[in-house]
Amino acid sequence: MSIIIFGSINIDLVTTTLRLPMAGETINGNNFLTAGGGKGANQAVAGARLGIPTKIVGRVGNDSFGQQLLVSLQTANVDTVGVVVDENIHTGVAVITVDALGENSIIVIPGANHSINNTDVERLRNLLPDATALLLQLEIPVEVAMSAAKVAQEMGVKVILDPAPMPTNFPNDFYDLIDIITPNEIEATQLLGFAVNNQETATQAAIELCQRGVKYAVVKIGDQGVVCATSEETFFQPAFAVEAIDTVAAGDAFNGGLAAALDTGLSLKDAIKWGAAAGALCATKSGAQPAMPDRKTFDNFLLRRY
Ligand code: RIB
Repeated sequence: MSIIIFGSINIDLVTTTLRLPMAGETINGNNFLTAGGGKGANQAVAGARLGIPTKIVGRVGNDSFGQQLLVSLQTANVDTVGVVVDENIHTGVAVITVDALGENSIIVIPGANHSINNTDVERLRNLLPDATALLLQLEIPVEVAMSAAKVAQEMGVKVILDPAPMPTNFPNDFYDLIDIITPNEIEATQLLGFAVNNQETATQAAIELCQRGVKYAVVKIGDQGVVCATSEETFFQPAFAVEAIDTVAAGDAFNGGLAAALDTGLSLKDAIKWGAAAGALCATKSGAQPAMPDRKTFDNFLLRRY
């Protein structure tokens, strides 16, 4: 079958420094790279590199960044038939700083991603019949993401939501539309109002998210691993230990890996293992899309680490 991503496409301007600057401070960095990014596009590339037929619905601006991003998506085998070039606004941009520990901070200027509206949902509707899952993130307006989820639910396509970045008001009626929600510690904390930072609090968070209406909650706790709750059980998948040089898009790699595994018919537990492996491999390379593992690297990694 295939997976469809409805979401953001950004150009990432990535600087690396020993440490993040303080307010008002100027520091020298040690590297700069420009790469394909955007949580939606990253999830698409993650799925496609694992060999899954993948389509993306979204918007870029009519500028050189937009053209560059379309070419790099197509080179990664992502079908961009659902991407519109918006004449009225620039392509989304993310300014990213990565420190010596591989931690990052990101400022996103949404540009064309925030012009996504219900006409894009109609284009999505036409592509959904072939899909097993719709992957959503929140770098597009949350009400449009909800409309997309409604259409997918009506058509029997699984909805996987990465609630990142968290909007100020996450709509309560969104939960019932979600099959799998995948917040990290920060997003889980924002959604639930208590600190989520270890296995115990992540388990509590995952259970509470299921009580709010999602079928499965997968709470990512960085290099500790992920906790998953269903209506019957909770389980923990430890992170694969790797030497992380840049955690940018590791969460996106997780979601792409998870959806790819489900699309090939694997169980939820195995799919979470795939997500964890894709996330770990992504953290071993710089940048977002350039860091997504190909299928051969991925299979070898799982073979050695299982
Ligand atoms: O999740 C990482 C992504 O967040 C980056 O690629 C950047 O574009 C921002 O959207």
